[in-house]
Amino acid sequence: MKQPLAYLDRNRDRYLSELTELLAIPSISTAPEYAGDVRHCARWVSDHLRGIGLNNVQIHQTEGHPIVYADWMGAPGKPTVLLYGHYDVQPPEPVDLWTSPPFEMTIRNGNIYARGSADDKGQIFIHFKSIEALLRTHGSLPVNVKLILEGEEEIGSEHLEGFVRKHKKLLKADIVLISDSSMFARGVPSICYGLRGLAYIQIEVTGPNKDLHSGSFGGSLHNPIQALAEIISGLHDRNGRVTIPGFYDDVRRLTQTERRAYAKLPWDDRNYARSLGVSGLAGEKGFTTLERIWARPTLECNGIWGGFTGEGAKTVLPSKAYAKISMRLVPDQKSSRIAKLFIRHIREIAPRTVRVQVNALHGGEAAITPIDSPGVRAAAAAIEKGFGKKPLFQREGGSIPIVIQFKQLLGLDTVLLGFGLPDENAHAPDEFLSLDHFFKGMKTSIHFLNELPKFLNDRD
Ligand code: BES
Ligand code: MN
Ligand code: MN
Repeated sequence: MKQPLAYLDRNRDRYLSELTELLAIPSISTAPEYAGDVRHCARWVSDHLRGIGLNNVQIHQTEGHPIVYADWMGAPGKPTVLLYGHYDVQPPEPVDLWTSPPFEMTIRNGNIYARGSADDKGQIFIHFKSIEALLRTHGSLPVNVKLILEGEEEIGSEHLEGFVRKHKKLLKADIVLISDSSMFARGVPSICYGLRGLAYIQIEVTGPNKDLHSGSFGGSLHNPIQALAEIISGLHDRNGRVTIPGFYDDVRRLTQTERRAYAKLPWDDRNYARSLGVSGLAGEKGFTTLERIWARPTLECNGIWGGFTGEGAKTVLPSKAYAKISMRLVPDQKSSRIAKLFIRHIREIAPRTVRVQVNALHGGEAAITPIDSPGVRAAAAAIEKGFGKKPLFQREGGSIPIVIQFKQLLGLDTVLLGFGLPDENAHAPDEFLSLDHFFKGMKTSIHFLNELPKFLNDRD
């Protein structure tokens, strides 16, 4: 693997300038006015994949944003890796909190700053460039690869499941590889073996049939914002547990082995609280912070609005109030069942003085990959070579809904080989990817492709 690794070193500057181009495209999937940029990004990615030597490059239109597919199948008899990632990004707002413009990649303090640098353009690019290095030096890859890159991950991957169902043969592989998560800490490589699921819900509370003067009417009606606040504040009890009946029914318990392993990880609650600017932590009683984030279900209010929110004061008793609520789920909770329980509970507790409408927006299931599976063992060997250290094993609190579909529809386990950092500011201003992780990630990727056949062949 000397030649491809030397190729990486020789091409550092060009790699970074190409990444600048990719990160300059505002492929914001949630905003309809950016649909053209999302399409442009799909084209950029497919042109790039063709340029680095991949074959069969296709752009599949969907009812939402396009899915890009490409492959290299020149290693008959060798395993096939299905690499998944997303080229869409979150909106950059609030833009004025960025130190440098979100779509102008800037390198500072050894970090690559831009929207999408870590989540997920920078991480998919790592694999594009390791593939390029292998193809340009050896003229071949040690395994077959198929790439599938979607433009709707940040909005719930609505059209991807249908695509996977329809193209089972095209996507046939031995293992899925995803780099869309973080390492445990800077310089502490890790392999993620679990993700949480999600149920995302919007509540609309209606009081009077129009906005009213808060002086003339205040005191005579239930203010919908007040009613909504009462509903939300009742969703947790004093022990930080979610009060929805049945919410915990299907939760898979942490094993003693997991609890012991998490307790040994280098973690400090006080540093964590300090780094986030809070004076103390909160959460479900009886569990440690890492357990709460990785392996326990939670409920968060993501946004709440209504009435007058402009500058200055306007006295009004509003007609409506809204909230967006997400629940992070763990095996074996089912997103659709949790959404139903939530809706039923809200209807039950809603005061009769207001009307409440509850809508499920999107969801996804939690996923666990066995840590002794061949792909995970190959990834551990690759990290040891790429980073010069053995990886830790961890779970993550975030969600990648397609992971469970890959298991259920294609029978494939996923290796989550993330190169981000826990403080990378994903979905927030000043998102970054460590420059060091960017290049070590490419080395790790080269080693992963090279190691994989040894581990997969062990199987039979
Ligand atoms: N890359 C994240 C998922 C992630 C976050 C994995 C943190 C590991 C740690 C992904 O882009 C994401 O943001 N997913 C959404 C999914 C949702 C829109 C269905 C999430 O987790 O909120
Ligand atoms: Mn992502
Ligand atoms: Mn994301």
